[in-house]
Amino acid sequence: MQHTVIAIDGPAASGKSSVSRELAQRLGYVYVNTGAMYRAVTWHALQLAVDPSDASAIEHLLETTSLECGVSDGRSCFLVNGVDPNEALVSPPVNAAVSKIASQPVVRRRLVDLQRGCAELFPTVVEGRDIGTVVFPGTPHKFYIDASPEVRAARRAGQGLHDPVVQRDAMDSARQDSPLMIARDAVVIDSSNLSVGEVVSDVLKQLQGKGITAKVQ
Ligand code: DC
Repeated sequence: MQHTVIAIDGPAASGKSSVSRELAQRLGYVYVNTGAMYRAVTWHALQLAVDPSDASAIEHLLETTSLECGVSDGRSCFLVNGVDPNEALVSPPVNAAVSKIASQPVVRRRLVDLQRGCAELFPTVVEGRDIGTVVFPGTPHKFYIDASPEVRAARRAGQGLHDPVVQRDAMDSARQDSPLMIARDAVVIDSSNLSVGEVVSDVLKQLQGKGITAKVQ
């Protein structure tokens, strides 16, 4: 059985992680960060010096790698051969290579299966690029969080992270398999001039109209 899924898509640094985390906490749902899964596979490929653009090398890598999705403290956690890469997930080399790995259909197939598996176990807030369009196209709860390129670049810089968000978005939007796009039935929220709390309130208001209420006020 699939539980309720709230799909949160959007470009890099649009604020969707902070919004998804807080939303999940308020609803009592599990927060699933699918970007972290693509980052973890990227980290693993880089550790083993596998070229992220080499489809057959990546396919072979996946055949010999254990990927596990679990839940800890209300959030999904993701282990590659039993290891959680933690801070390495947001390192500059991973930021630079993750869009290449995410464009590989073999990677997407494997990770989408794990993402769907999570939603069979718990009600979830799932954050990513293709959640409303490909992973859970049937969910009636879809949000697309956007922000201007300037605001997004400033947010990453403010976190002290080097992350080429504009280049990543261009690659994520142009790829053939499951590109970043707005689902036809998604509610679009521009977070450029809104706080995380304001976006969460907006989403909760819309969910309330569909009978989903926050456990934590
Ligand atoms: O959300 P994020 O910036 O941490 O995601 C890292 C990369 O992973 C992003 O540039 C594209 C890819 N990604 C994806 O292709 N599909 C998803 N559902 C989530 C992330």
